[in-house]
Amino acid sequence: MPSIVALQPTGVLPKTAIREKNEDGTPLFPDYMPFYDPLEKVEDIGTFEHKDPGLRADPTFPNLLKDATKMSDLSPHVGTEIEGVQLSQLSPAGLDELALLAAQRGALVFHGQDFRDIGFEAQKKIVSHFGPLHVHGWAPHPAAGSAEHMIIYDHKDDLRVRRSWKGRSPIQWHTDQSPEVQPPGTTFIGMLETPSGAGGDTLVSSSVQAFKALSPRFRKRLEGLTALHSNNDGFTQELKNNGSDAVMRRQELTAEHPVVRVHPVTGEKSLYVNPVYTKRIIGYDQEESDYLLGFLFDHIAKRADFQCRIRYEAGTVLVWDQRVTNHSQSLDYDAGERRHAFRLTPLAEKPIPSMIEEDDGECQKDVGRVSLGLC
Ligand SMILES: [Fe+2]
Repeated sequence: MPSIVALQPTGVLPKTAIREKNEDGTPLFPDYMPFYDPLEKVEDIGTFEHKDPGLRADPTFPNLLKDATKMSDLSPHVGTEIEGVQLSQLSPAGLDELALLAAQRGALVFHGQDFRDIGFEAQKKIVSHFGPLHVHGWAPHPAAGSAEHMIIYDHKDDLRVRRSWKGRSPIQWHTDQSPEVQPPGTTFIGMLETPSGAGGDTLVSSSVQAFKALSPRFRKRLEGLTALHSNNDGFTQELKNNGSDAVMRRQELTAEHPVVRVHPVTGEKSLYVNPVYTKRIIGYDQEESDYLLGFLFDHIAKRADFQCRIRYEAGTVLVWDQRVTNHSQSLDYDAGERRHAFRLTPLAEKPIPSMIEEDDGECQKDVGRVSLGLC
């Protein structure tokens, strides 16, 4: 009988990434430290006409991709990394094309950007190309100003985010601010400082593919339905966690949206429900609504075949279209590590409902279903 021998390490593993940090442990971007003012109030933007910039875009992307050196898809259905492009240098036509490509691929990743160094006003000027900028109801903005910059911050000196996920899974698929009457479209996250090791990725799922992956008959059951979206859970959580320090800048939001929406530029249909904000299907009894939403939420969460992970370095910018994706934080790195980013969130159109069609020909376009005789 051979004896069992303990395996010995064969050498030191190489470093997998260079993570930018200050030696003294201070934040790399102190101007972007989160600021919480429990007395602050903000007016709602109200309704507005939205003409999506993607409608003006040249579909061959001559302005966006003229300096691109490499493009790699992160998965077949969602996510593309683009090298060689500086977002801060794009012309208005380049930004129009960015909107179109983000709508087509769901999420675009640009590493090595100077976007984080150009200042609040220049950042806002670029991102407001896509729509008026949203102000969050309770999330912090930078200590140095700019209410539209939503600060994402987790560190041992501020565990507000960690605390808000205490005792429950941090994996919460959603699309940001869906309880707005005109929810967000093309959105930016600028990464300022990452945890020292791997982790803190954003998980992204295609809600276009989430819809396409359902059987044509089931899809028809969903078209024409509407659902109620509300941020009352987040509102309650903020009050519960922070008491008299809770930030309540705006009123609680509710909106009714189509369960299947149509993108104004690509015309693609996407499943527009999420477990964070969607509360019930309008006109269904409670049990029916719970049953249907439970299935759809599981469908979004479990189907890794139309998901990808966004890995960040300091300086990475994620540009994604909230109308065709759901996403989740991962919060998988060690508690106490610093992860610091900002989000700028343009609002877009009131969701366009998908109309019920007797035979929309979608099944015949799906080679996988045709080849298996499923139409
Ligand atoms: Fe989010």
